[in-house]
Amino acid sequence: MKKFILAVLIAATPLLAQVKEEIAVPYIAFPIKMGKGFDTVQANCLTCHSFGYILNQGKQSKAFWRGKVDKMITHFKAPISDKDAETIVGYLYEQYGNDKLK
Ligand code: HEC
Repeated sequence: MKKFILAVLIAATPLLAQVKEEIAVPYIAFPIKMGKGFDTVQANCLTCHSFGYILNQGKQSKAFWRGKVDKMITHFKAPISDKDAETIVGYLYEQYGNDKLK
């Protein structure tokens, strides 16, 4: 019985552990560009992740952005209509495009 109580006490010790210092979660702002179609991007692309994923790609071709939007729809099941997808690709290419279509 003593061994049992000891085992329970040891197992429960982490529950009593406390962090004394204040924990600050870093705030990371992703400054996204405003432009035609932005509201559609905001409504459809923020449900699963931040704008960080878009900004981290850098300037890319229209085909690249088309591929990314299609990937979100087919692989990750983002519920985005064809019309909205078109608007989003237009926005991405206009704001984060490299002037290449392919
Ligand atoms: C249904 C959820 C969902 C929605 C909505 C969504 N994404 Fe994603 N997205 C993901 C997931 C999951 C990943 C992969 C995350 C990882 O690999 O860590 C991702 C990753 C990305 C990446 C990183 C590159 C890559 O190929 O993985 C980009 C760029 C991106 N998303 C753009 C968009 C854009 C633009 C939209 C709006 C059209 C959008 N996402 C909407 C789920 C979503």
